[in-house]
Amino acid sequence: CGIVGYVGPQSALDVVTAGLKRLEYRGYDSAGVAVQADGGLATAKRAGKLVNLEKELSERPLPTGTTGIGHTRWATHGGPTDANAHPHMDNAGRVAVVHNGIIENFAALREELTERGHELASETDTEVVAHLLAEEYSACADLAEAMRLVCRRLEGAFTLVAVHADEPDVVVGARRNSPLVAGVGQGESFLASDVAAFIAHTREAIELGQDQVVELRRDAVTVTDFDGAPADVREYHVDWDASAAEKGGYASFMLKEIAEQPKAVADTLLGRIDGSGSLMLDEVRIPANVLREVDKVVIVACGTAFHAGLIAKYAIEHWTRVPCEVELASEFRYRDPILDQQTLVVAISQSGETMDTLMAVRHAREQGAKVLAICNTNGSTIPRESDAVLYTHAGPEVAVASTKAFLTQLVACYLVALYLGQVRGTKYADEIRAVVRDLASVSGAVERVLETMEPVRQLARSLAGKDTVLFLGRHVGHPVALEGALKLKELAYMHAEGFAAGELKHGPIALIEDDLPVVVVVPSPRGRSVLHDKIVSNIQEIRARGARTIVVAEEGDDAVVPYADHLIRVPVTPTLLQPLVATVPLQVFACELATARGNEVDQPRNLAKSVTVE
Ligand code: G6P
Repeated sequence: CGIVGYVGPQSALDVVTAGLKRLEYRGYDSAGVAVQADGGLATAKRAGKLVNLEKELSERPLPTGTTGIGHTRWATHGGPTDANAHPHMDNAGRVAVVHNGIIENFAALREELTERGHELASETDTEVVAHLLAEEYSACADLAEAMRLVCRRLEGAFTLVAVHADEPDVVVGARRNSPLVAGVGQGESFLASDVAAFIAHTREAIELGQDQVVELRRDAVTVTDFDGAPADVREYHVDWDASAAEKGGYASFMLKEIAEQPKAVADTLLGRIDGSGSLMLDEVRIPANVLREVDKVVIVACGTAFHAGLIAKYAIEHWTRVPCEVELASEFRYRDPILDQQTLVVAISQSGETMDTLMAVRHAREQGAKVLAICNTNGSTIPRESDAVLYTHAGPEVAVASTKAFLTQLVACYLVALYLGQVRGTKYADEIRAVVRDLASVSGAVERVLETMEPVRQLARSLAGKDTVLFLGRHVGHPVALEGALKLKELAYMHAEGFAAGELKHGPIALIEDDLPVVVVVPSPRGRSVLHDKIVSNIQEIRARGARTIVVAEEGDDAVVPYADHLIRVPVTPTLLQPLVATVPLQVFACELATARGNEVDQPRNLAKSVTVE
């Protein structure tokens, strides 16, 4: 969910709704606002996307106020209805609360409140907080103190923001787990899940830590812990501006982010390789002697980041000869994984807030493992809780389906693998030096792919009526196939599956029927040519059974030509780096196909960009 709070001289409704627009990627099942006005609170909320709320506000405008809060929701407790939308209020309508997370003891608290005569109107855990806050406030007449008292009674993960009608020009927030950042302006203050919500007003930010309460006034931002003691906070300057979070002439954020990939890749490499080809990863603060002792690498991640991890495994094991496991973060801690001081856990997360990944990080550290985060969001929770972090420099990624962040995650994974190889000294030293050189030219290769995408878009449009598309790959092409399928599921809502091409004959080949589109990611014919020849046979096998073959192959690979109904060329790249170029056409394909089906690519149904519940 996305949260915004504002205190200052401007119309709170304008600031809050503009902020919500920037946070809609965090959830768009419903939206709502509350502003202090005429000695009370005025609220509006609507199921569905923010436009529904905006329509409601234009039909029934709220009185003007300069203090307010807002919320855009990804439903957990209670369906996405008007009643379950935030803010939630107490019975007297004096306090309004918005919430991100899940309050685990809400049933007990709800029962307690009902016994004391409270009437709860929704099915949400959030409403319970509004009632508790109202009770505490009536005793102490201090909203920040009431918030601290309530937080001490809550279990689970939560970030809360509240206003009270009796405390003008004050917004109070509390953070456990899910992110909350304050913005410090001139005579105005902001609170949001992400700086994007207030970047148009100020670039000075204060990041709240775990279990902290913040009181926002026009000219003061006060942070304490849940007991009221002053808290340590990190103040920082945001180094990108509002334009980075805007579409800049593109029809969607996704198209813009796909186009930004060459720059994102180059930025992520920048300053990390010196003139002699050595890696300079000073930010990986894990000492070289500890890295030399590492006897196992375990990668944890979700969704697209997990696919980056699957590719990293090939690079890490090949270049360092250290065994590497890759696991879905949501499964990791529940199977009691074997971890110790010699295990390096790499957590990959664009947002740095994904709860499944965060819980995996915590579990790994409890077991004594060292955790290195690969993350795109400065100061987010996962890097804060890890031993070290390697930031990807993709810039803000707004479209829910990840594109540029994925490519930069791959770059970061290669850097980690090469760095491990460098520190440990492997028998592939020459190859590592060559790869470092190749990485430098990869941004240009991605650029060339983007220049040749028109036939891919045409093909995608022609397939808009299909129900199923399959994806095949071998070696690093297998995770690329999985990612191609995931993009299509997320965006086009089609049945799409990725398979290891060699596994085809063990089952999935039964799915092949006449004119079924099958995308095949072909490894380079150089180097690992055995694999190349095997996949060419796989293409023949499916084509013989009627499949319509869409072949992604390197420039100059003539062997595939006779069997490709559609041929998508990518530049010649070393095998392990091929995913950086081979994924791009699949992103373009999914985006165009979804658009042709009339879907909104930036905000696919049922999804949210960062999922801060388990
Ligand atoms: C959500 C998004 C996915 C994303 C995954 C991991 O499920 O919808 O697109 O890949 O989270 O996100 P992270 O921020 O941890 O990389």
